[in-house]
Amino acid sequence: MTTNWDNRSISLLFDSYDDRVENLLGYQPLIAEMKRSMNGSTKILDYGCGGGKVSRRLLEAGFDEITGVDISETMIEIARERTSSEKVEYLKIKNNKVPFSDDIFDAAVCCYVFVNTPTPSEISAISNELFRIIKPGGFLYLLDTNPRSIGIQFSTFLNGSPGLTYENGDQREVILHIPNQEVFRIIDTHWTLDAYLSTLSLAGFADFHISERRARDISADHRIQLGPAEHSYAPFIQLTAKKPLT
Ligand SMILES: C[S@@+](CC[C@H](N)C(=O)[O-])C[C@H]1O[C@@H](n2cnc3c(N)ncnc32)[C@H](O)[C@@H]1O
Repeated sequence: MTTNWDNRSISLLFDSYDDRVENLLGYQPLIAEMKRSMNGSTKILDYGCGGGKVSRRLLEAGFDEITGVDISETMIEIARERTSSEKVEYLKIKNNKVPFSDDIFDAAVCCYVFVNTPTPSEISAISNELFRIIKPGGFLYLLDTNPRSIGIQFSTFLNGSPGLTYENGDQREVILHIPNQEVFRIIDTHWTLDAYLSTLSLAGFADFHISERRARDISADHRIQLGPAEHSYAPFIQLTAKKPLT
């Protein structure tokens, strides 16, 4: 059983999760990389936008044309309620089909979506769609839980059971810490790094770059907000890839 993102209380709990580790070692370095690579081009797709956390951070960073899409009507409602800018629009999608023609976006971000997608055919469908809507020469930035750091108790979450090994498509329990509340449990799907690379390559992406950041990779003033596990292990994996020029 995977997580039901159409359940409003689940969606609201996810949005209240203390995501400082994701922000410091995932979202912010990813957005900084986007800013360095985009050369002023700004049309961005946030695929699987959830409650809009990534879109709002892109907006804060100065991107001014952002489209968030998600299969969950509830997540789209929460994103709209929490974002007050004409520079961001949110759209519900069906069957992984983004309602835009080919080669429209300068870049797409896709954060914590593959781990919420239970079958190889669905991660392939998402990858194909991301490839279709990105312009030739444009970038994909994909961020997910690191399949090589499963079972590690990080400051704010535990993904998978310590000591267990997981194969492609296996379900893993995730325990997230919600400030001033009990823990929040969701179910993720395990994909190996090879599964990410082969699925995205088959869709047509190339020039892969993999980032696995630990505390030592960020500035000292931010590092102090992290715990011991983030000094020893990389909780997330970022894959950056390019849609080749034809
Ligand atoms: C863990 S949340 C992440 C939300 C957001 N990207 C973030 O980082 O805060 C996963 C989101 O992916 C969405 N999702 C799952 N499968 C999807 C699919 N096939 N197409 C689009 N969105 C999907 C879910 O509805 C949920 O909002």
